[in-house]
Amino acid sequence: MDAVLTNPLRVGLRQERVIPPQCIVIFGASGDLTHRKLIPALFELHRQRRLPSEFGVLGCARRPWSDADFRSRMEEALADTIASDPQAWECFAAGLFYEPADLSDPASIVRLGQRLDSIDRLRATRGNRTFYLSVSPTFYGSGTRALAAAGLLADSERSRVVIEKPFGTDYASAQTLNKVVQSCAKENQIFRIDHYLGKETVQNILVLRFANTIFEPVWNRNYIANVQITAAETVGVEERAGYYESSGALRDMVQNHLTQILALTAMEPPGRFDAEAIRNEKAKVLQAARLANESEPWKCCVRGQYGAGGSSVSPIPGYRQEPGVDPNSTTETYVATKLFIDNWRWQGVPFYVRTGKRLPKRLSEVVLTFREAPVHLFDAAGGAPTPNQLILRIQPDEGANIRFEVKAPGSGMRSRPVDMAFSYDESFGEPSDEGYVRLLADAMLGDPTLFTRSDEVEAAWRLYTPLLELIEDAPWQLPVQPYEARTWGPAAADSLLADDGLVWRRP
Ligand code: BG6
Repeated sequence: MDAVLTNPLRVGLRQERVIPPQCIVIFGASGDLTHRKLIPALFELHRQRRLPSEFGVLGCARRPWSDADFRSRMEEALADTIASDPQAWECFAAGLFYEPADLSDPASIVRLGQRLDSIDRLRATRGNRTFYLSVSPTFYGSGTRALAAAGLLADSERSRVVIEKPFGTDYASAQTLNKVVQSCAKENQIFRIDHYLGKETVQNILVLRFANTIFEPVWNRNYIANVQITAAETVGVEERAGYYESSGALRDMVQNHLTQILALTAMEPPGRFDAEAIRNEKAKVLQAARLANESEPWKCCVRGQYGAGGSSVSPIPGYRQEPGVDPNSTTETYVATKLFIDNWRWQGVPFYVRTGKRLPKRLSEVVLTFREAPVHLFDAAGGAPTPNQLILRIQPDEGANIRFEVKAPGSGMRSRPVDMAFSYDESFGEPSDEGYVRLLADAMLGDPTLFTRSDEVEAAWRLYTPLLELIEDAPWQLPVQPYEARTWGPAAADSLLADDGLVWRRP
């Protein structure tokens, strides 16, 4: 039995706020993120009529492009979408500009300020500015300083700066970076972006928990036995070895995306639905979180690295054979770890977190497994009854499932697990926006709710400090274990759960 909960209100559900006139300045305009995510997201907002006509995009990078060069490159990147809506493109492209700029050259930032003044006059953007740092992380601090030195962050109501991940590479560097950016701008002007928070299903964790009465009473250690958070990818390192080699899965996915999901899953209800109240609760729960074994972290963590795999028809190279990767690399492409949250709600409940590249499926989900029924009155079809589970499907196939036991048909009284499923697609019939669409809109609106505050980002780094230090100082204690591409990671990751009498969910 698969019951589908269908929402009868299929249309007219969007509640969109109006983005004020402004110019968004993208540093790193010749880079990958700009043409793959940022410009498509801005164009989507334009198509949804959410951008005002008093709007401009100023691309900045070192290359000596002209406005026309920038427009034609963005046009190429958006070719498929433009084909279905050429008029929208004409109108959008008229607001695209380019200025060669170098964040390490103060004179070029002063020139940039003058260019922005002229765009203000041309497009009536009224001095409102969002600066998006899509540049190498080594420029986050100096770039923010350069903007401040040119006076471009002085107006705390009309200017803001968006900083991509990774925000720091460990606890100490995140603290230092926070000090630098906070000396240049107020906290409410700083938008540390984590694109997972832009995903509809990640935000839905809050709505599911706090807009219903059926979940919250059981959302605690009395009813929940363990929580699994998974982000599995089928892709490998792609063309990003330069960055990934010094990052690895722990810094690339766990410290940010998975830890944000953990925070939303485990936080206390906020007193109000506003940025400060929500971020207070997230910071609090992250401060209460710890590795299951901080003094011997190798006992609660597994690192892996994909080796060759696939078939003879479509072979997959191992990580060490990927372009730009050191043939002796010890960078992890897989991490599984176990955490506890030392507070009243979660004391003693293990949270297992795992992510990996080149796994068999692309899938992100949160699985809350409930405690077993205290007495087993019925025979279960497969032996023991399956514990109840709530599965929050973050992507793809966004939605949620509840797994529970029902009577198997027939004359006996045997129980069998079934799933009740909610699907975003079936209930709402329209695809969710890409995370960047939501997050860019929020940044331009000056709404920081879905951005990471300084204390959250520091708490998230501090949480993994024992592991990062171990990898740095005694890597042999936590070696990367090979796993074949398109398998579910190293066998040791299974043992991590088997030691607790559990298994990973195999979706
Ligand atoms: C990025 C990581 O932040 O997230 C990538 O740097 C990863 O390595 C990506 O592939 C995954 O994002 P998504 O939205 O595809 O799950």
